[in-house]
Amino acid sequence: MNHEISQKLTRFNQQHILEHLAVMTEAERRAFTDDAVRIDLEQLAALYETYTSSRNSKKEKKVFQEVDVLSFNHTEESLQHKKRLYALGEDCLRDGRVAVFLVAGGQGSRLGFQGPKGCFPITPVKGKSLFQLFAENINALSRRYGTHLHWYIMTSQENHEETCRFFRQNSFFNLPQKTIHCIMQKQIPSLDLEGRLIVSTDKKIFKNPNGHGGSLYALHDSGALQEMARQGIEEIFYFQVDNPLAKIADPLFIGAHVEQQAEMSTKVVKKVDPDERVGIIGRINSRLGCIEYSELSRAETRERGKDGELRFKSANIAIHMLKRNFVEKLTGQQDFNLPYHLAVKDIECLENTKADIKSKKIKGLKFEMFIFDALGFAERSVTLEVPREEEFSPVKNKDGVDSPETARRALINLHTHWLNNSGKLTSIPESFVVEVSPLFALDEEEFAQKFNPPSPLKTPLYVE
Ligand code: UD1
Repeated sequence: MNHEISQKLTRFNQQHILEHLAVMTEAERRAFTDDAVRIDLEQLAALYETYTSSRNSKKEKKVFQEVDVLSFNHTEESLQHKKRLYALGEDCLRDGRVAVFLVAGGQGSRLGFQGPKGCFPITPVKGKSLFQLFAENINALSRRYGTHLHWYIMTSQENHEETCRFFRQNSFFNLPQKTIHCIMQKQIPSLDLEGRLIVSTDKKIFKNPNGHGGSLYALHDSGALQEMARQGIEEIFYFQVDNPLAKIADPLFIGAHVEQQAEMSTKVVKKVDPDERVGIIGRINSRLGCIEYSELSRAETRERGKDGELRFKSANIAIHMLKRNFVEKLTGQQDFNLPYHLAVKDIECLENTKADIKSKKIKGLKFEMFIFDALGFAERSVTLEVPREEEFSPVKNKDGVDSPETARRALINLHTHWLNNSGKLTSIPESFVVEVSPLFALDEEEFAQKFNPPSPLKTPLYVE
């Protein structure tokens, strides 16, 4: 063991990890010490200090304010405005100025599914995976706008290989391979409650992915931002892997963001149930950001405006537009980091028994950056309110709310609505199950133009 490493570990009170070297092979030992050298112990000590001081001091109550949202109604003026923005967004797509960016670092474990969450089968008739569904949307958009949309996918250490394999095995879902870019997010070590590094059961320094805020750094570190600049891409459409209803590269959203020359924008849906556990886009001590549901008091979650709607109603659906320049500006600054948030989690670790290998479960601190913290650095921003039933039905839990079942139901409802509004059918039985391929239609208008009802109409119906 290099004397310098051991001195450095001792200085930060982390020398205990060296005791595990006794149960490692030579190769494991080498990998372990190489990793230990690279860890930013100073940063970890500062993060731990923030944790202890916040635990010991009284929490100051933050001041929350609601934000103005852009929404549309059925007045002629509003419809014209919407049309203008939509056309502007379409121009950006046609000119190849937009890239699609999916954060997919998460696993399907909460759904009881082994593997990357994006591989989870979600559509109601064909059981297409989330990745396939998004790929078909991107394919259809590229066709519609006569371009090849570039698709960046952020993976994590945990699922990078498997994600790439899944795309290869599925022939990149018929997208040009050179337009798909998988970039890996970084990890950060977790700490035990005494601020000490943890050794994992596979004899490594235990780390967790650095949060979806890490996606901005992944774009920078992988060279993706430079590549985008070379391709003439100026705007980035960002979305999460868990929402099968995400309207990818929605021209209306792009147009609204570009018209305002915004640096970062957000889509929200109306929160109706005060107890719904979603983040709220709002101002935190005057700074734009996302208010986590646990931060609002019971009274605040129930407060209503003159229109009878909840005051804090702008539910964050984690869909953003980011100006490429803005991401460059943030990530290019040497001493800039999005803040780290901390969560106490159960961690399986190696018990130090010198000669024997045992594992045990402990409480540990995981650090993550959140993408929405970048909102506070944007000089201009648009918050666009969209209909929940058309754009948001996340898959988070195995059953109950926000589960595969509710997401499949939402897809069926949306496509049944298209069938109903196509004017080509008289009545659809309530139990009818329908799935429309994005390659057939991306929206209600396109569907109405192309759809010819089969006779007889049988459930389940797959329209392709
Ligand atoms: C998140 C938002 C919440 C919002 C909700 C909408 C946070 C803290 N809260 O909640 O405001 O209302 O989505 O659905 O984010 N991911 C990575 N790498 C990471 C961490 C996450 O790629 O290191 C990806 C996951 O694959 C997932 C997404 O980010 O697609 C969301 O992360 P998750 O931790 O599940 O957020 P939520 O708590 O569901």
